[in-house]
Amino acid sequence: MTKGLILSGGKGTRLRPLTYTSAKQLVPVANKPVLFYGIEALAEAGITEIGIVVGDTAAEIRQAVGDGSRWGVRVTYIEQDAPRGLAHAVLISEAFLGRAPFVMYLGDNLLNKGIAPFVREFERERPAAQILLARVPDPQMFGVAELEDGRVVRLVEKPTAPKSDLALVGVYLFGPDIFDAVKRIKPSFRDELEITDAIQDLIDRGLEVRPHIVDGWWKDTGKLEDMLEANRLILDTLVRRIDGQVDDASRIEGKVVVEAGAVVEHSVIRGPVIIGAGARIVHAYVGPFTAIMNDVEIRGSEVEHSIILEGSSVCDLENRVVDSLIGKNVRISRVNLKPSAYRFMLGDNSEVGIRW
Ligand code: TTP
Repeated sequence: MTKGLILSGGKGTRLRPLTYTSAKQLVPVANKPVLFYGIEALAEAGITEIGIVVGDTAAEIRQAVGDGSRWGVRVTYIEQDAPRGLAHAVLISEAFLGRAPFVMYLGDNLLNKGIAPFVREFERERPAAQILLARVPDPQMFGVAELEDGRVVRLVEKPTAPKSDLALVGVYLFGPDIFDAVKRIKPSFRDELEITDAIQDLIDRGLEVRPHIVDGWWKDTGKLEDMLEANRLILDTLVRRIDGQVDDASRIEGKVVVEAGAVVEHSVIRGPVIIGAGARIVHAYVGPFTAIMNDVEIRGSEVEHSIILEGSSVCDLENRVVDSLIGKNVRISRVNLKPSAYRFMLGDNSEVGIRW
């Protein structure tokens, strides 16, 4: 039986400051942690034994995922002492994986059509590895695969002159030959064991590496713009459902979910938007592609194309908040300071953009 290996450790430097206090794989996209979409994709492909590689944020991930029974799967946690690379994550998972073929899934990736056909093809053909590829407009930003006669012949990390537009997506399938490869390779210039080097080692030994081109969209949510785009793509698939309390002075337009226990008063909500339980939207405008988590308060303000996490509040702002990712329990409000001034209390690596 094919097993699953989800990588949920890592440094998450590109999503600081959120990742100082939280796992990036638990940042919600349309109010559901990114990681849960990955678990669902594996479960839907019939995979029931899943190893999750965890690092510094192990406790938080265990707390959120539990034993996997919610998805009908069994989860085993594999501790990685430091983010030593994707191939290192494979290396330390050998005891869990044994000789079974396995899907390696990067815990911050999202695929809209799942992975079932990809897994079936691998089980039928049994190559040493099968890699998922997507056509991208800017291949120089990715690991790129070069193909010949339906086989992968070379992988190049961020090539300056890409020979194809096929980027490596964060989902791979391996047979047991990968363990020799991850033991043979040496750390790269960034001191990580690279999975691209391990796959290249398979190719160099004459083993078959099959390409599989994704059908539908794929997103790596490792940085802000991509997180917002993933949020946009998932919100667009919402089915309208209003379970919370909406007063007569409010207007709800389009694909909007208002969870039970949320309150909307004197406001306009223009979908696609999701509003979590316990949120309060009062004298506010919430515009398209916004995900508002539980217990958030938006009062006397406008928010659009943003993700706001649990317990935060945005009150009485003069200008609309856009393109933002706001962490948990953040308070943004207008203050009456003299002389006219801004007042901040921000963590390291925070980013604030103020209108001219
Ligand atoms: P990346 O996004 O490539 O790396 P990162 O998490 O260190 O982030 P950044 O580049 O912003 O610093 O990792 C892809 C996925 O794999 C992500 O879910 C984290 C996980 N991962 C591990 O579990 N172990 C590792 O050693 C590495 C490098 C990543």
